[in-house]
Amino acid sequence: MATESAPKQKKTCHLGWHITSRCNLSCKHCLRRTPGQATKDLGREECLAILESFLQFTESNDRSASIQFSGGNPLLRDDFPELLEKAAKAKRRGIVKRIQILGNPETLDAATISHLKECDIDDITISMDGLEETNDRMRGKGNFKAALNGIRNLMKAGVPTSMKFTLVRDNAEELKEVIKLALGEGINHIGIGHLILAGGAIEERNRRMSPMEYRDYLISMMSFLDTLPEEHAGFRRSFLSRNSLYPLLFHELGRLEEYRQMASGKPNRREGGPGGVMFVVWSDGEVVPRREMQRQGYVPGASFQEIYDSSPLIKLMEDKEYIRKLSRESMDNHVKCSVCPVREFCSHGMAGISGYRPYFAPNRDCWCC
Ligand SMILES: C[S@@+](CC[C@H](N)C(=O)[O-])C[C@H]1O[C@@H](n2cnc3c(N)ncnc32)[C@H](O)[C@@H]1O
Ligand code: SF4
Ligand code: SF4
Repeated sequence: MATESAPKQKKTCHLGWHITSRCNLSCKHCLRRTPGQATKDLGREECLAILESFLQFTESNDRSASIQFSGGNPLLRDDFPELLEKAAKAKRRGIVKRIQILGNPETLDAATISHLKECDIDDITISMDGLEETNDRMRGKGNFKAALNGIRNLMKAGVPTSMKFTLVRDNAEELKEVIKLALGEGINHIGIGHLILAGGAIEERNRRMSPMEYRDYLISMMSFLDTLPEEHAGFRRSFLSRNSLYPLLFHELGRLEEYRQMASGKPNRREGGPGGVMFVVWSDGEVVPRREMQRQGYVPGASFQEIYDSSPLIKLMEDKEYIRKLSRESMDNHVKCSVCPVREFCSHGMAGISGYRPYFAPNRDCWCC
């Protein structure tokens, strides 16, 4: 008897689009302040052409597409509703699978929220970096109240909403309170981003935790998560499994088996899925494969197809086997990682690129020596 095989998963195709460099806030740590970063925005026609080119690439390569609109604050563009509408139409036609927006709450009026709902977006992420005093020190006066108000209005309107917390030494303790607040508002996903030392954050480098401080933070979060009621077990599991240093901590505390049970059946981040291409597009149309990498072309002057065809780096980055191999080799080459008891849960991340060869390095927050 013939057995039905599972349908082959399509390769993915992601557009991470910083559609404007403009912002109503001026957070000190902002990556947008990187020297050489685009300060110019493209016009409406050019942006529509960029989106069209991305959709054509997706269709002609039979990819599963996702789009993230970011900035600056994308909601500041007068033509944002039109761009979003075009992406939403492509989602209705099955070309785009997921639409995400990273926007600022001050610009979330009732008309915008109802349009986000109509466009059936998959997520809007609102940043919150602490309780009121800390958050407003990092993001600007009045931002905390605007964020809370925005989150409540989004949830009331049924728009899928998540939160983002940028972690530094002086707000780490408040993450627990922010999580309680989020769960209380019905939000069950908070992305935690450790401070990246680029742009404005270079001057803020003393706020980044040392590896041992980071370990203390993880322990403190672990104890907090252990106190959450059973209804938030999914949140706890997802929080713990998204951080690749928790296995090391569970191992040190003699609880690795518990971690193993929790993670069972879930592939290592680098193992799952068929892989795919990522285009990061800056507000002036510059295309890079990842934020820190060199330019591969400009849109809409060239199409995504032309950029893809002429870029060995973009093709190489979607070769999952090759990337996995380099990551594994890097683990073998670092003595501490080659004998690490939790290396099955870890993978080295890309640290840079030399010519066309990406190189990998251990997690810089790892305290193990
Ligand atoms: C670049 S912003 C764009 C979207 C929107 N303006 C916002 O702030 O949410 C996206 C996220 O990146 C975070 N971010 C900015 N600079 C960062 C840095 N140097 N390290 C880590 N995260 C950073 C922000 O705090 C925010 O959560
Ligand atoms: S982090 Fe976001 S809100 Fe803050 S300045 Fe940068 S782009 Fe604007
Ligand atoms: S970075 Fe290396 S030592 Fe640290 S947890 Fe990963 S494999 Fe282990």
